[in-house]
Amino acid sequence: MEATSIRGRAECLETQWVRAATPRDILAIHRLSIDCLESDAWTLEDFIREAREPYTRLHVVDRADAGIVAYALAWLVVDEATVVQVGTHPRWRRRRIAFRLLEEVLLVLAIAGARSCHLEVRRSRAGVRALYEKLGFSVRGVRKGYYRAPADDACVMSMAL
Ligand SMILES: CC(C)(COP(=O)(O)OP(=O)(O)OC[C@H]1O[C@@H](n2cnc3c(N)ncnc32)[C@H](O)[C@@H]1OP(=O)(O)O)[C@@H](O)C(=O)NCCC(=O)NCCS
Repeated sequence: MEATSIRGRAECLETQWVRAATPRDILAIHRLSIDCLESDAWTLEDFIREAREPYTRLHVVDRADAGIVAYALAWLVVDEATVVQVGTHPRWRRRRIAFRLLEEVLLVLAIAGARSCHLEVRRSRAGVRALYEKLGFSVRGVRKGYYRAPADDACVMSMAL
């Protein structure tokens, strides 16, 4: 690992934690999801219902100086995981926060028994695809017209864990 990455990692450990979300975090996660996903954001009721499901894994990056700045929602069903949503607050982007969060979430999922992980991403979001590719995902197919408002195809990505 190069020196800058080690420094980045040390800064990450000192000032922010990836941790499992608690019920107290749901409101903050919902607000953050609106900042991140706009028209694709879920309602608060969606998050509350989702958080109750036994297959849901909800993690946050909680900074000492700023609180929750990123979240990731995944599912684990038997040995198959799905990354459902990930978001970093607009002010905190491009600092490897989502990358480190998802690295940790994928590790947690693998330890919990996942052997593969899948996700769908808007075809137009090349930056998001680049994030997933950096983590080891690759595009396996395209679902035409999968998204609405705005209309978009979905790239189906997956990786072995
Ligand atoms: C996608 C998102 C979560 C990335 O969060 P982030 O914390 O800024 O991402 P990171 O800094 O960890 O990015 C890691 C790598 O992913 C790629 N990447 C991330 N955002 C990118 C962008 N906007 N453009 C191009 N590449 C991007 C880059 O390769 C980046 O590495 P680099 O900065 O060294 O070049 C954030 O932009 C976001 O919340 N977007 C809106 C919500 C969304 O689209 N979520 C995904 C679908 S649910």
